[in-house]
Amino acid sequence: MIYLTRKAEFSSAHFYFNPLWTPDQNLAAFGKCANPNGHGHNYTLEVTVAGEVDPATGFVVDLKLLKDILEREVVSVYDHHHLNHEVPEFAATNPTTENIAVAIWTRLDGKIPNARLHRVRVYEMADLFADFYGETA
Ligand code: NI
Repeated sequence: MIYLTRKAEFSSAHFYFNPLWTPDQNLAAFGKCANPNGHGHNYTLEVTVAGEVDPATGFVVDLKLLKDILEREVVSVYDHHHLNHEVPEFAATNPTTENIAVAIWTRLDGKIPNARLHRVRVYEMADLFADFYGETA
């Protein structure tokens, strides 16, 4: 088994809000991040797949195909979009780094031929990232 990681980047706007809470509760929990006009981040995505090396090619997966899948399933949907307003999975779920990692897993799982999705890592900034391995607690 070998693990292969491909990176992609996207820039998106978001805000954090719990509709069950008062404005003061939202402000207390989320601070400036509760501003519904949103703010932006330059996200970095790392997708790690696990599989066996094909002796004919030396590859686990077709790298161009993996890049195209990330582009189609994630980057084209998230990049230069407002996650809360324009991406369905965040209509009622805060687009935190944690939830973005889970959502990307859901978008990619089962779509990569000849390899198993191992880890989705999302950096919101250089010193903050979330990892998801597909476990549902
Ligand atoms: Ni933010």
